[in-house]
Amino acid sequence: MTTTATGPACALPATETAAGGEELWERAWAARRALGPRAVILGHHYQRDEVIAFADVTGDSYLLARRGAAATEAELIVFLGVYFMAEAADVLKQPHQRVVLPDLGAGCHLAETADIYTVRDAWDQMAAALPGRKVIPLTYMNSGADLKAFVGAHGGAVCTSGNAQKAFEWALSEGDAIFFFPDEHLGRNTACRLGMDPSDPLVWNPRIAELGGLTGDALSEAEIVLWKGFCNVHTAFNVRQIEEHRAADPGVRVIVHPECPRPVVEAADEDGSTEYIIRRCEELPAGSSAVIGTDWNLVNRLRLRHPDKRISCLKEDICPCVTMNRIDLPKLTWCLESLAAGDVVNVVEVDEEMRRQGRLALDRMLALG
Ligand code: 13P
Ligand code: SF4
Repeated sequence: MTTTATGPACALPATETAAGGEELWERAWAARRALGPRAVILGHHYQRDEVIAFADVTGDSYLLARRGAAATEAELIVFLGVYFMAEAADVLKQPHQRVVLPDLGAGCHLAETADIYTVRDAWDQMAAALPGRKVIPLTYMNSGADLKAFVGAHGGAVCTSGNAQKAFEWALSEGDAIFFFPDEHLGRNTACRLGMDPSDPLVWNPRIAELGGLTGDALSEAEIVLWKGFCNVHTAFNVRQIEEHRAADPGVRVIVHPECPRPVVEAADEDGSTEYIIRRCEELPAGSSAVIGTDWNLVNRLRLRHPDKRISCLKEDICPCVTMNRIDLPKLTWCLESLAAGDVVNVVEVDEEMRRQGRLALDRMLALG
């Protein structure tokens, strides 16, 4: 956690833990109505059905960053998502606003694969090994506010799965090479979109102390260096699952998220952000079938939303993203009732200096469109 936050991570009063779903549902809606326009609720597509129903705006991480920053006068931004998204909303918010996350323990496995100390050390080693080469740091939205600030302070930008290609093109026009963290797979898939070979990007392994396991010679030629980090949900998908689905249904459309490993993206028909996946499912003609390689909550919602199409998850027995799932109806009820009673709980607040530098990196991303 890179920012200050007040309130319990998830400890709930007995009234929420003991109450049944229907009672909580009514209490949460009553609190939501009482808050009125003082609050806006933003929800990521991986959230549980029982909480996403409360979202005024749903989106992928790019859209939510934009909408969080956009013209809402609400003084409270309740974020149904994970910690790094709430931090980004806090960096982009207006001065009178506060960002609230119903469970402060809602982190991200991928974001945790890179920390500021190890990234700073890698950056310093790279600078020493590559005198005269201008390296542009790019961080995926799925990273701590301190890493966004680091990137902002070093002339780089943030990107999301929806605009990674634009961000990579921008970075290559600004410098000689890109250092991208923390998702190796999104990085490689984006490099391939730029026409590179999957083996072209170098991989910096933070567990190897010296030059991340690379050589100075290799680094001096590299255009893209990727941090060896991954999402535990999207790396559960593999090519065999795609082959099995195609064998059972040769006409099936396979759509995956670009956090999946390169062989999975190559075996699929298309890949894109969660917003892209939703749009593609809408565009598919009635009667068609699709298997989706991303979080189960989203895929299940798509299945229910399109009863005229056969939509399933690439791995039906996958565990949904456990950190996204931490926000549930009892926690949301507690949070909304506290806010309605004037007790602003679970505030996510980025340190001022970090906010200023992180804002540079986020603004560069938003300027890419
Ligand atoms: P999107 O920006 O595509 O919604 O992805 C966020 C995420 O965490 C995917 O695992
Ligand atoms: Fe993080 Fe993966 Fe969950 Fe997305 S699905 S929030 S990358 S752990």
